[in-house]
Amino acid sequence: MEFCWGKCFCVRKMDKNPGGKASNWRIFSLKELHSATNNFNYDNKLGEGGFGSVYWGQLWDGSQIAVKRLKVWSTKAEMEFAVEVEILGRVRHKNLLSLRGYCAEGQERLIVYDYMPNLSLLSHLHGQFAGDSLLDWERRMNIAIGSAEGLVYLHHYATPHIIHRDVKASNVLLDSNFEAQVADFGFAKLIPGGATHVTTKVKGTLGYLAPEYAMWGKVSESCDVYSFGILLLELISGKKPIEKHAHATKRTIVEWAAPLVFQGKYDELVDPKLKGNFNGHELMRIVRVATLCAQSAPENRPTMTAVAHMLKAEVLDKVLTPMDGHNMPELDIEYDEHGVDEDANSDLGHAIVGAVVNEFESEQISA
Ligand SMILES: Nc1ncnc2c1ncn2[C@@H]1O[C@H](COP(=O)(O)OP(=O)(O)OP(=O)(O)O)[C@@H](O)[C@H]1O
Ligand SMILES: [Mg+2]
Repeated sequence: MEFCWGKCFCVRKMDKNPGGKASNWRIFSLKELHSATNNFNYDNKLGEGGFGSVYWGQLWDGSQIAVKRLKVWSTKAEMEFAVEVEILGRVRHKNLLSLRGYCAEGQERLIVYDYMPNLSLLSHLHGQFAGDSLLDWERRMNIAIGSAEGLVYLHHYATPHIIHRDVKASNVLLDSNFEAQVADFGFAKLIPGGATHVTTKVKGTLGYLAPEYAMWGKVSESCDVYSFGILLLELISGKKPIEKHAHATKRTIVEWAAPLVFQGKYDELVDPKLKGNFNGHELMRIVRVATLCAQSAPENRPTMTAVAHMLKAEVLDKVLTPMDGHNMPELDIEYDEHGVDEDANSDLGHAIVGAVVNEFESEQISA
């Protein structure tokens, strides 16, 4: 791929792209970011991830920003870093957290984003907002659909296509309307190899990793689909992807959910914080989609396009009935004490995906 250096380093004016978001991308000076964040004051710190710390800041025009100060950058020269951030900066979609710009001065590598006032999905499910119960069913459904659409854009419409590799609740940010903004896409390219795995260990996000990625490092779009399936289960249940129990034993969310899905006990999957206020049809849809996504064989997982369509497909409500022991076995999320059964076939899964994709394609043609 060839890059235009002149274009990469120009200061962008406001423009619009097919994602439908205005872009006011620019290069920031270190001085400006120091002043916006009160010299990266500890009180301004929003949190810390595998790539560095994130600080809240305010620019001279009053707008609020989040600045990610990268700690691992050494193999990326200033130029290379700028090119890759520029590529990410071009990705614009209503459900993707867009970059406002970057700073690369001396030893410092910083990325500037819009500040998301409702922070992350993680903070609402398990963090500082968990007690406030601000995520009603409608918001959860909307977050599921919005984040799916963000991933569809990354996988199929961004140039070049982007595999996220780190889909998880802390990377789904929420704007003032609780619309999902998927963050930190494309980081694997910005950061020297291994950082993602370091993050995984440090942050314990292993529960989101597709088996083929965790075991053999095989990366493809379907790794994101798997992680998204885990995210869906987390979103409806309020459970963590991996829960620690007594005597240092751990249980994954799939191990917890699979028997309930198998027995058709969907209601028991729902976060008790919702106090029974949820839409049964939508619940069934989400559970089905999560089940398809979290299959261990990557070739059986749907594409994100099919996922987004299924989450929105009210038409499916007519044909879906709760799964029970009779119509469930085709899905290989089936769990017994030996773990997930990888050999079970997934004809039902294929049938649902096939039907939805056909319907989607015929809609596209007739549009
Ligand atoms: N634009 C933003 N607005 C508000 N909060 C943000 C923003 N960007 C990041 N955060 C929050 O700052 C914290 C640190 O984010 P960071 O991305 O560094 O770590 P992480 O998401 O936990 O892990 P990872 O490094 O794997 O992405 C997280 O809680 C995240 O939700
Ligand atoms: Mg993050």
